[in-house]
Amino acid sequence: MATISLMVDIQEGSHGIDCAADCIRRGGVAVLPTETVYGLFGRTNDASAIAHIYALKGRPNNNPLIAHVLDQASAKTLAAEWPKSADAICDAFWPGPLTIVVPRHPSVLPQAVGGFNSIAIRSPQHPITRAVLAVVREPLSGPSANRSGNVSPTCVAHVKHDYKDVNEARNLIVLDGGPCETGLESTVIDLTGDYPAIVRAGSISHQALEGVLGTGIQNTTPVNQTASPGTRSRHYATCTPLELIEQVDLQTQLSTNAPVCVIGPAGLTIQHPHQYLEFPSTPKEAARVLYDLLRQADAMGSTRILMVCPPNTTPWQSINDRLARASTPHE
Ligand code: TXA
Ligand code: MG
Repeated sequence: MATISLMVDIQEGSHGIDCAADCIRRGGVAVLPTETVYGLFGRTNDASAIAHIYALKGRPNNNPLIAHVLDQASAKTLAAEWPKSADAICDAFWPGPLTIVVPRHPSVLPQAVGGFNSIAIRSPQHPITRAVLAVVREPLSGPSANRSGNVSPTCVAHVKHDYKDVNEARNLIVLDGGPCETGLESTVIDLTGDYPAIVRAGSISHQALEGVLGTGIQNTTPVNQTASPGTRSRHYATCTPLELIEQVDLQTQLSTNAPVCVIGPAGLTIQHPHQYLEFPSTPKEAARVLYDLLRQADAMGSTRILMVCPPNTTPWQSINDRLARASTPHE
């Protein structure tokens, strides 16, 4: 086993938290649970920790990281400007699954933000990550703890799977906070332009943000955008090709002997050699289990994964965004 995983019961004691905080304080990195997905964290202000994160993840170094903070006061130390809109949405949604992009303070290491002049910041809600932040008392940069381009991890088993063959991950500390509650990465909103722009959809919706800001928000999550490299087209991808299909087309697609894994709503009849994973009927539950289902489907040895399209309605928007990226063919 390449990683050391430590169970953490926030009520019972803080051994795991102290271990992770100590490791991070000494320039190391550790995997911590957040309410969205597990992240790979190191000090924003430590060039070697940042380099280690990029190397472990196999992430291109022009793809910026999110800095995680306890509160707005800490966030402001990272920003060259703090727009009024930031106050409003952080008051409403922090701590929680919202990331804001603001101009980067000159003191922030360029390599912590992929060389960008802006910085993405979020205040996570999970008590374990908050406890580590409180001990370290510095912002922590952290991407999702998957290998670059893969499906994000929502439990410790996912992290262990991704890093089992990665030599540099030997002795990596992973704090176990159980399955993530939200299951999709945070909504990212860019506040550096003339209008706020959503650059990654997430559980905090366009409408909820607009409700607080009281102004129009651009929805710029085009599949090929480069302003936020992590949102490029193929992402969140399974190794087995994933295709989105309408339920009416399912039986035609299954008239083959090559085993297919179907992910779809309750009540489908799927015959051998094909397999079936049930997709929840509510967007909240679907978001929570989406990445686990994609990983399970990938492990089944099928030739294809067929995902029955969820409804094309607003509450399903961020799930449909992830599925569109997961099903984009290799470039
Ligand atoms: O829920 C989350 O946000 C998780 C947890 C661990 O906090 N983190 C996460 O990080 O998803 P990561 O690195 O996997 O995704 C960060 C996204 C990427 O799409 C990246 O391109 C974008 O945020 N991003 C980061 N800094 C940016 C910036 N300065 N401008 C535009 N986009 C930025
Ligand atoms: Mg990610």
